[in-house]
Order: sequence, then structure tokens, then C-alpha cells
Amino acid sequence: MRILFTGGSGKAGKHVVAYLAAQGHKVLNVDQVPLRHPGVGDLVADITDSGQMFNAMTTHVDMAEMEAGAAPAFDAVVHFAAVPSLFLKAENETFRVNTVGTYNVIEAAAKLGIKKIIIASSETTYGVCFSNGQTDPKVLPLEEDYDIDPMDSYGMSKKVNEDTARAFQRRFGIDIYALRIGNVIEPHEYRQNFPEHFANPAMRRRNIFCYIDARDLGQIVDLALKKDGLGFQVFNATNDTNSVPYSNQELLARFFPGVPLSRPLKPQEALLSNRKIREVLGFKEAHNWRNYLDDPTIA
Ligand SMILES: NC(=O)c1ccc[n+]([C@@H]2O[C@H](COP(=O)([O-])OP(=O)(O)OC[C@H]3O[C@@H](n4cnc5c(N)ncnc54)[C@H](O)[C@@H]3O)[C@@H](O)[C@H]2O)c1
Repeated sequence: MRILFTGGSGKAGKHVVAYLAAQGHKVLNVDQVPLRHPGVGDLVADITDSGQMFNAMTTHVDMAEMEAGAAPAFDAVVHFAAVPSLFLKAENETFRVNTVGTYNVIEAAAKLGIKKIIIASSETTYGVCFSNGQTDPKVLPLEEDYDIDPMDSYGMSKKVNEDTARAFQRRFGIDIYALRIGNVIEPHEYRQNFPEHFANPAMRRRNIFCYIDARDLGQIVDLALKKDGLGFQVFNATNDTNSVPYSNQELLARFFPGVPLSRPLKPQEALLSNRKIREVLGFKEAHNWRNYLDDPTIA
């Protein structure tokens, strides 16, 4: 596929772009800084400028395409560019860049006839990650039909983006899938961060103890690109198990006492559930943290 990818120079995007390029997709990365990945085009542009998004989506990826004549149409847009957290910019600026940027990207893609759009939503929409004070989820595991209720500007921006996606899907009848991405882990971060999390699992409560390997996120995006006809969809994007070597029985008793369960849980099953991507998209994780760390306490 010919794919326009926003935010491909970032923490998650660089791994996802590399995965997509390795699958044989032709990718144009649209970001404020170039990625410089072999075989991938770079275009420096700003998602908050609608004209630049329309322009980017009608451009050649490289000289070889120009040689052949008019720029071909993009088959899909994957939109990751964002202010990716609280604490980075003023809260209103985070909200502005993320909501206006996502509106611009989706509007340009839909109006230019692009039939598949994948957007990066977030675990924070569930309202626990960036809540003032410690809050409980209403139910566990977290699944896509949850009544999301973030109280912070970043989580709110991602919730608005899901509504923007839903509205454009309804108007244009195309496929727009929003990925509620869990805490992204790059390969080097297992040894760097996980031992501390094992010793102090409370650090992971706001992430509902979950994570997504950046390369497995690549697989999820690729699967979502290949799955057509689902209209507007939300998918949690997490790995199969929690990020700490404790059973759900222990985690629930210690960190979520009193939170009701909607269904029985397997001992290590991710509390931010990835059941839907496994069942609907056929996701099979390749990078569980246990591949990279030895821990004798693992059940
Ligand atoms: N990292 C995580 O744990 C995590 C978790 C859930 C969701 N997400 C979402 O995944 C996506 C990628 O996150 P990340 O961690 O790679 O973030 P990142 O900050 O590393 O990457 C974001 C990229 O977007 C680009 N960008 C920012 N503003 C832009 C603009 N106005 N125009 C063009 N490009 C712009 C940046 O230059 C950067 O390369 C984001 O949408 C983020 O909200 C990330």
C-alpha cells in the first residue's frame, strides 16, 4: 500500500514505519522533523495547518514517482503526530494541536478520497492515567465499549479525536479505526525500566499495568490497514499480558479492591484488554517482555 504516516519520527512512529516499510509498503512520513529511514519519504509539515495536510496528501513520495508522472493516490493515512502526553506543553496547546491536527488530517484524507485512516488514540481516554488523584476504573478489564471519561486535556483531546473520526466515517462511509494505544515500550526499555516496575508495581497502576511493544504496534497497524469494511472502530492496542510479574489476583487485591470484573480473567491477562485486536484483526504478539527479561517470580 501507499501510506501517508504522520508522526513517524517519534518514539512509536519510527518503529511502526520501519515495520510497515519491511512489509513492503511505500511510506511518506509527514512530521516536523525528518525520520531518514531507508526507502521512506520525509516531508516536513505541520498537522495544525490544513493546507499543508491537503498538500502532503497529493504529493510525490520520491523522484521515482515523479519520473512516472502524476502523483498516485494514497491508499491509507496513519496519523500518529501529536503532543503525546501531559506535562509537555501548556494544556490548552496540547488540546489544540491534537484536536485541530487530527481534524485536519482526517478531513483532508476523507475529502481526497482516501478510504482507510488509522489514528492514534490512547489508554488515557479511560480516565485513570492522568486523573487528579488516584481514581478507579468503573470496571475491569478495560474494553472498547467502556464509557470513557478522561478529566485531563490530553485524554480529552484523544476522546474528541475519536468523535471526529466517527463523524467523518459517518459522512464519507470510509474505514476509520482508532487505536487506544497502551504505554509504548521500545526494545531498549525492557532492561532499562522494567526491573524498577517489578520492584515498585504501583508505578504502573495509572497504565493499568499494561504496555505495547513498539514493534508489535507495527503489526497491529499493518493488520488494521489490511482489514477493510469495519467502518468506525476503536481497538485497544496492548500486549497479551500485564507488564509486571504478578497475577491478576494479586494486582486486583492490592491496587483495585472493589472494582468489579465484567468477566473472568486469566492469571496474567492484560487488564487493558487486547481481546478485540486478537479476535477481529488476528493480532499475535511477537514481543512479550518475558522474551527480554528473566524473572524467577513469573508464574
Ligand atoms: N508513547 C506512548 O506511550 C503513547 C501511548 C498512547 C498513545 N500514544 C500516541 O501515539 C502517538 C505517537 O506517540 P509517540 O510517543 O511516538 O510521540 P512522539 O512525541 O515521540 O512522536 C510524535 C511525533 O509527532 C510529531 N509532531 C508533533 N506535533 C506535530 C505537528 N504539529 N505537525 C507534525 N508533526 C508533529 C513530532 O515531531 C514527533 O515526531 C501520539 O498520537 C500519542 O498521543 C503514545
